[in-house]
Amino acid sequence: MIPRLKPWLSKEEFAALFHAPRDAVGRFEAEFARTFGVKHALAFSYGRSALWAFFQAMGIEHEEIAQPAYTCSVVAHASVLSGNTPVFVDCSLADYNMDYGLFEQAITARTRAVIPTHVFGYPMDTARVNAIVRKAEKRFGQRIYVIQDCAHSFEADSNGTSVIREGDGALFGLGISKQITSIFGGMFTTDDDEIAARLRAWRESHFQAADWLHNLKRLLYLLAVYPAFNETLYGLVYWLQEDTPLLNRLTKAYHLDEKIHFPPDFAIGMSAVEGSVGLAQLPKYARIQAARRAIAARYFNELRLPDAWVMPPQVPGATYSHFVIRVPDRRAALRAAARQGVQLGQLIEYSVPHLPPYAPYKGEREFPNSLYCSEHTINLPIHPGLSERQVDKIIRVVNQLKV
Ligand SMILES: Cc1ncc(COP(=O)(O)O)c(C=O)c1O
Repeated sequence: MIPRLKPWLSKEEFAALFHAPRDAVGRFEAEFARTFGVKHALAFSYGRSALWAFFQAMGIEHEEIAQPAYTCSVVAHASVLSGNTPVFVDCSLADYNMDYGLFEQAITARTRAVIPTHVFGYPMDTARVNAIVRKAEKRFGQRIYVIQDCAHSFEADSNGTSVIREGDGALFGLGISKQITSIFGGMFTTDDDEIAARLRAWRESHFQAADWLHNLKRLLYLLAVYPAFNETLYGLVYWLQEDTPLLNRLTKAYHLDEKIHFPPDFAIGMSAVEGSVGLAQLPKYARIQAARRAIAARYFNELRLPDAWVMPPQVPGATYSHFVIRVPDRRAALRAAARQGVQLGQLIEYSVPHLPPYAPYKGEREFPNSLYCSEHTINLPIHPGLSERQVDKIIRVVNQLKV
């Protein structure tokens, strides 16, 4: 079975697992900053830990954080767990990103930060976002931090500029589903010396160093990933995941959406093993981007979908972390494709304000687009290691789905 996602791992990452230099994390941070043209990069155990630490380090507490309704729930978790209030903004059906009008309305006198998110790799118009924020700063007479959530997009391009450099800082997730991975892990980048110094100091005093056991667990996790995503074995993994509870500890525990919580190791620093794997991935970044864009181009050219299905927008500068199609009957589409050996994803399969623990933050407001997308999106495999034969098969299978 062709998996819906697969990190691009080869012998370099394998070697990196067993030869992690002591200063691997520091080197990964320096190389990350160099690759993306930013002054500072600070590594964390997860992207969510980076955002949580940013709020704490900057003394942002009891404030409002404007953010998408249609995004990964951990962004809202980081807001709440740092003592803040997420204020949700519905998405636009045109590109899944926050609607600009609703975004502007969501900013109030209590807003201290906003999280423009480049969902599925579609760049928000960062000039427009920044203009809205500057206007609100003037109106309310206070500073509002702009944190770009680049977990999906990495370097998507907005008006000729990388979205990473268009705010006070940028946030990255580096789990195995991301464009580049350090096993788990997250990164916060900034050009602002003061933010970097405060975040670094806060990390020093509040994060535990990763010990040998933590390193070993991460190493074993990645060792298991190599065979698990192999096309021949993946049918078995899929069955274990869908029809048995055996993999729940490894997969579902990562996102428990019925409560606002972080994994127990969220305040342990990035391990040397992860830094070492991240270092092996960075030189591949340009090839990974090119491969994703090339597969997206084939899908745009060769997919012939039923009238009721909605193709993703084709946007210059997008990095296509996911190739997302809206379908009338998602369950039927997923099942029919799986029967023919293609796993389709269903990301993002929830709308954050509609998750039970976010009811108090949702109030009476409606987020119809976010809710609709959470029920009707599928995403096609678009990982860079897909062969031409596999892409042919995905196109053939999807073109034949009559659901
Ligand atoms: C949009 C978005 N933001 C932030 C994150 C946070 O990353 P992590 O899972 O490393 O906490 C993710 C991860 O899935 C994400 O998809």
